[in-house]
Amino acid sequence: MARILGIETSCDETAAAVVLDGRYIESNIVYSQDDVHRLTGGVVPETASRLHLRTIVSVLERALGEAGRGWNDIDAIAVTHGPGLAGSLLVGVNTAKAMAFARDLPLVGVNHLEGHVYANWLVDQIEPEFPLVALIVSGGHTDLVLMEAHGRYRRLGRTVDDAAGEAFDKAARMLQLGYPGGPAIQRAAEGADPTRYDLPRAKLQGRWDFSFSGLKTAMLRTVQQANESLVVPELAAAFQEAIVDVLATKTVEAAREFGAENIALAGGVAANVALRARIQARAGVPVLIPPIRLCTDNAAMIGAVGHFRFEAGDRSPLDLDVFPVLPIA
Ligand code: KG4
Ligand code: ZN
Repeated sequence: MARILGIETSCDETAAAVVLDGRYIESNIVYSQDDVHRLTGGVVPETASRLHLRTIVSVLERALGEAGRGWNDIDAIAVTHGPGLAGSLLVGVNTAKAMAFARDLPLVGVNHLEGHVYANWLVDQIEPEFPLVALIVSGGHTDLVLMEAHGRYRRLGRTVDDAAGEAFDKAARMLQLGYPGGPAIQRAAEGADPTRYDLPRAKLQGRWDFSFSGLKTAMLRTVQQANESLVVPELAAAFQEAIVDVLATKTVEAAREFGAENIALAGGVAANVALRARIQARAGVPVLIPPIRLCTDNAAMIGAVGHFRFEAGDRSPLDLDVFPVLPIA
């Protein structure tokens, strides 16, 4: 049994959590900067890192407090060291290093994308089975990954341009639905007919990669040409359908091709109800989907990865650096 303090500041959530044994959440504090970034229609990196700096200490204290633990109960500190915004990552990594040094605790640097996958280990009564195919879909990433064991990944495909979440955010801006775009599009699309507008899907035959820039352009053209006659809910529904169709089709095909025991969904876009339903309907194997609060950025998922790394003997030095670009494999 090990108790890990997880820290996550890679984008615009300041988060800390206490996780026992990589499976049990004792506390999970997420301070979201959404209200601030909504004013600029997206994350301004400088603003994000300043807000992290202002909140990280109280978020850490709350994580320990709500878990009812003190520093003496913590076995190791796990922190996201990439990928993400450099200035944001630096706040979490330097806080983790300072505390590891001050309390003489082991430090474990964690890949944010692995964290998203490990949110699936934090779900009660579920033990993910290998090999599994993970679809990691967030604001910055769209990766299709084959996970063969703890810490063993093969990246099958990725986006060649925009990330799925980024596409949602840009489409929402075109439709003036606000930030973050994914939940806004989902809300607008609810109950609307997705077939009224015809939007393209990039299949990229024979590859596991994704592309959303053509869809984005088509969307923009539709908005410009429609003018007053634009039916926002129906265009939102058509857009969501186009993204969900491509993501679900490739994920299910990959699971079949590689003999996966499970499909695991991960990242903020995995909160999308239409995506969840589509993959579940077609999968043919159990689909693991974390609850929404564990799909979006949080530190419990970082604590979960940290546990398995810590148990495997992984340690990061006190000069651990940040890696804005850090592929999962
Ligand atoms: O994983 P995440 O919280 O942060 C990153 O690491 O990027 O993902 C945020 C992204 C945003 O682009 C947001 O629009 C999208 O996830 N998102 C959604 C939904 N909820 C959040 N996209 C589609 N449908 C949703 N319900
Ligand atoms: Zn994320």
